[in-house]
Amino acid sequence: MSEKAILEYKGTKLELDTIVGSENEIGIDITSLRAKTGMITLDPGYGNTGSCTSDITFINGEKGILRHRGYAIEDLAAESSFMETAFLVLYGHLPSESELTAFEAEIKSEATLHYGMKGHFEGFPDNAPPMAVLSAMLNALACYNTELLTTATEGPAFTIPTAKIISKVRAIAAWAYRTSNGKPFMPPRPDLSYSGNFLHMMFSETFSLYEPLPEVERALDLFFILHADHEQNCSTSTVRMVGSSHASLFSAVSAGVGALWGPLHGGANCEVIKMLTHIHEDGISPREFVEKAKDKNSPEKLMGFGHRVYKSFDPRAKILKGQVDNVLKALNVQDPLLDIAYELEEMARSEDYFIERNLYPNVDFYSGILLRAIGIPVDMFTVLFAIGRMPGWIANWREMHEQSLRISRPRQIYTGETLREYTPMGQR
Ligand code: ACO
Repeated sequence: MSEKAILEYKGTKLELDTIVGSENEIGIDITSLRAKTGMITLDPGYGNTGSCTSDITFINGEKGILRHRGYAIEDLAAESSFMETAFLVLYGHLPSESELTAFEAEIKSEATLHYGMKGHFEGFPDNAPPMAVLSAMLNALACYNTELLTTATEGPAFTIPTAKIISKVRAIAAWAYRTSNGKPFMPPRPDLSYSGNFLHMMFSETFSLYEPLPEVERALDLFFILHADHEQNCSTSTVRMVGSSHASLFSAVSAGVGALWGPLHGGANCEVIKMLTHIHEDGISPREFVEKAKDKNSPEKLMGFGHRVYKSFDPRAKILKGQVDNVLKALNVQDPLLDIAYELEEMARSEDYFIERNLYPNVDFYSGILLRAIGIPVDMFTVLFAIGRMPGWIANWREMHEQSLRISRPRQIYTGETLREYTPMGQR
């Protein structure tokens, strides 16, 4: 028997069940509320609304905790590979050696794109935003795999589209980048790791293969690990929302890319670099910028700061900050934007405005500097975020179907005009 919560309205009391999660988070179950009272709850932005129960990722924003399937992100970042973390997120347990080998082999076997997709890439204009291309081409995969448009959560009907998406998303990303730069597609190399192969498809030339430094390959793999899942954020909720209509996995992740694109979500990693470059090149001091970010009359925000859930620190930001130095050293690069980022962080951390509002660097604050050092163009940053997030989106889509959830269909409180008499044209 669960503890009851009591809701009282105009003298009538309603007992509501509560549900306690494995980390003692408590939810009030309001699924019977409308049927019993005619009322709904109102929570714009869903800051207080649980849309599902989930076994995949646990976040405690007050304590800066992030765990996938019970494993701390710090341990995964230190020890795991993106392929192992992807398996963990998707299937709920760390793979055995043979499971990991089979998973990696399946991903490798799906690395190329159907030749028919070449025409789509060539049809996009040179300045096409890569996130638009990514979303379109993930959806286009459905056209070449019509036998896989199911809601299966087990067996080849699930593992094949999953492997296709996790693998081909790299080729789509690399192809989008290369066609917009007038370069031919670079076929994947089966001898390379997941991250190494992506770097090869991005940067190799016909007579000059790109050989990444181990530090760079590892840093990119770590970037993907840190983005693998993040519970019910804007894009993951979008994937679930679209999937709830029984749309295919291809459509659901394509919609996720659209949601991720925005500057308040995944697009923030590009905005951070634009902000740092603006400070660096336009002769603005970090102090001036921080003052603008605090000013309600100014549109500026300190991009890469703040998070709906993390209110003490974002553990991913801490891990990435540590990596940035390693990569810059390995590449022998000195980036003036890093000094500006350090200065902004130090200032913001001691300002009442940021302390009172619990605003700390999020994952995007240092990820841009890391990607820039690796040579990834700014408009591809959010695409890389999407590559990393695929296992999480797919795991959430799968979990939703395993739980046979109803179609997502929020309600609203209507605040518009009440019934009005229609006046025909000419009499108005
Ligand atoms: N710079 C300056 N002020 C900020 C910032 C910021 N980056 N973020 C929030 N605030 C202020 C708000 O103006 C608000 O002030 P008020 O209480 O005086 O009105 C207060 O802090 C609370 O902010 P909300 O907007 O209510 O926070 P919310 O949870 O809705 O938004 C968000 C979170 C979107 C991440 C926000 O902090 C933001 O816009 N940050 C910059 C963009 C960014 O870095 N996004 C990436 C998030 S991580 C990710 O998606 C991977």
